[in-house]
Amino acid sequence: MSKITVLVNKEKRNTVFSEKYYARLREFGDLNIFDRDDFSDMDYVIDFVKGTEVLITSWSSPVLDENILDACPDLKAVIHAAGSIKPILSDAFISRKIRITNSAVALGEGVAETALGFAISACKGFYTLGRDTRNKLWNENRMSRVTDFYDITVGVIGGGYVGRHFIKLLQNFNVDILLYDPTLSGEQVTTLGAEKAELDELLKNADVVSVHAPSIPATDNMLNRDNLKLIKDGAVLINTARGSIIEESALIEELEKNRFFACIDVTNPEPPAEDNRLRFLDNVVLTPHIAGAVTNGLKRVAKHVCEELERLENGEKMRTEVDLDQLYKLA
Ligand SMILES: NC(=O)c1ccc[n+]([C@@H]2O[C@H](COP(=O)([O-])OP(=O)(O)OC[C@H]3O[C@@H](n4cnc5c(N)ncnc54)[C@H](O)[C@@H]3O)[C@@H](O)[C@H]2O)c1
Repeated sequence: MSKITVLVNKEKRNTVFSEKYYARLREFGDLNIFDRDDFSDMDYVIDFVKGTEVLITSWSSPVLDENILDACPDLKAVIHAAGSIKPILSDAFISRKIRITNSAVALGEGVAETALGFAISACKGFYTLGRDTRNKLWNENRMSRVTDFYDITVGVIGGGYVGRHFIKLLQNFNVDILLYDPTLSGEQVTTLGAEKAELDELLKNADVVSVHAPSIPATDNMLNRDNLKLIKDGAVLINTARGSIIEESALIEELEKNRFFACIDVTNPEPPAEDNRLRFLDNVVLTPHIAGAVTNGLKRVAKHVCEELERLENGEKMRTEVDLDQLYKLA
């Protein structure tokens, strides 16, 4: 039986896990659940993890530095119950080549569902027509505000976990799908069910543009003053990825022309200032970073952690094991 340690603070233990998932983890070893609210006492943390063979981490877990790793000489793998592993990585961890998997795939399903919800709601005019009816209007704008989710082009920027699941969901509709992802070949994109496009071509042709790229130096302001103007009149722009990817001042300028609609779940910084224009424009719906999972959806993460542990303990390759050499292009 492996010694499995859940090194997760109280808040995340309560939101991500529940007794149902702890019971599944116990099938594979001796489960030790961190028993303090936070990690303010690192001496206690190091003592707690001693001898751990499988470490389960999450948002707000401490960086896995030399001191923690030295306390776990038999560490087989880390299962991260969150998306990006970057906040917990240290040079020591990377150089020891410890196996690590994350739960971005589980969160990605929720993000893709959010993007689809945004896309359909904005195309059908739910946000704007809902406001109209509150203002006592009825039929006045329906012809100009409704685009049915049929025979239109959806542009997807980034073909990772989220982008791929979004494309999979889109297969249920009669829409054309363009994908911009410089790391994927035309053949790979075709296999995913989309057509490979360059960024400018996608922006010029898509009725819906949905951003699913990672926040890395190469994507900083990837949508900016020069190319936001390529977006079609009447289109819908969705950003559930990261605020840094869109140059915010240029986006606001373009939105103030009232040419297209934007569904924005992420800003840079978060929260946006109280007087940020994105909060007030009629052609924007701004949500507080809820695309992935906030409440019950987080249990998808716990389920993925249990499945990864099962694969590990059965001697199989974990499904979402991260290749640490590929970190530069990952979220
Ligand atoms: N709003 C939320 O609640 C929420 C939750 C989870 C993830 N996210 C965000 O969603 C985004 C996608 O997450 P993911 O799990 O699919 O990440 P991922 O790392 O699996 O996929 C990112 C994809 O983008 C590609 N890419 C790299 N450079 C690119 C570039 N210059 N242009 C276009 N594509 C590029 C990568 O090759 C990869 O295929 C990330 O920004 C992530 O932070 C948001």
